[in-house]
Amino acid sequence: MSGIFVTGTDTDVGKTVASAALVRALDGAYWKPVQSGTADLPEGDSGIVAHLAGVPFGRILPPRHSFAAPLSPDQAAALEGRSIALDDFTLPACDRPLVVEGAGGVLVPLNDQVLMIDLMERLGLPVVVAARSGLGTINHTLLTLQALRARDLTVAGVVLLGPLNARNRTAIEHFGAVRVIGEIPPLAPLTPETLANAARDLDVKGLLP
Ligand SMILES: Nc1ncnc2c1ncn2[C@@H]1O[C@H](COP(=O)(O)OP(=O)(O)OP(=O)(O)O)[C@@H](O)[C@H]1O
Ligand SMILES: [Mg+2]
Repeated sequence: MSGIFVTGTDTDVGKTVASAALVRALDGAYWKPVQSGTADLPEGDSGIVAHLAGVPFGRILPPRHSFAAPLSPDQAAALEGRSIALDDFTLPACDRPLVVEGAGGVLVPLNDQVLMIDLMERLGLPVVVAARSGLGTINHTLLTLQALRARDLTVAGVVLLGPLNARNRTAIEHFGAVRVIGEIPPLAPLTPETLANAARDLDVKGLLP
């Protein structure tokens, strides 16, 4: 089975939007293993991807863990008297390219011992990094790439979200020795149609193992 893991340089950088575009571009399926914040958004990122990518709910695999509070997974779990274990996670069987979305960034705790990057290592998928396009992104993106490579994770590419910024793109490609597979400008409105257009501009050739 093939797939990619979409992480981000931070929370709220556009992982879900990038994931929806990748699901669309790869005609794939989607899995969010750990979802926080269902008190505010009951269907979580899965609902957003189903809508934006325009795929039936059968292609959206259910999260392994969902928590009500919009906090890091360890904190959200603790509030419910629950905990997350790395052994809880196995890649679900899927007959399409699977786009897996993390929570927050690579060093977000899942419990007292384990970080998101440990889950990424366990799943073993090539990684796409979603990052903001603007000021500050070079530092955040290069740090994220360094952390991934320190674990020997394969970096498949970077997706930049926000106003197009050619200099930041070039700097990330140069210093990060990485391919920016696409830039998703601010979509206003953000709809399945505008997302589908943006997805067409992603260079997904060779992305999957
Ligand atoms: N290119 C874009 N055009 C319009 N809106 C965008 C774009 N990228 C991101 N957004 C908006 O920015 C917000 C954050 O994006 P998103 O939910 O994809 O981030 P995230 O990294 O998945 O966050 P989380 O860490 O909560 O999973 C959302 O409201 C989303 O609709
Ligand atoms: Mg998200």
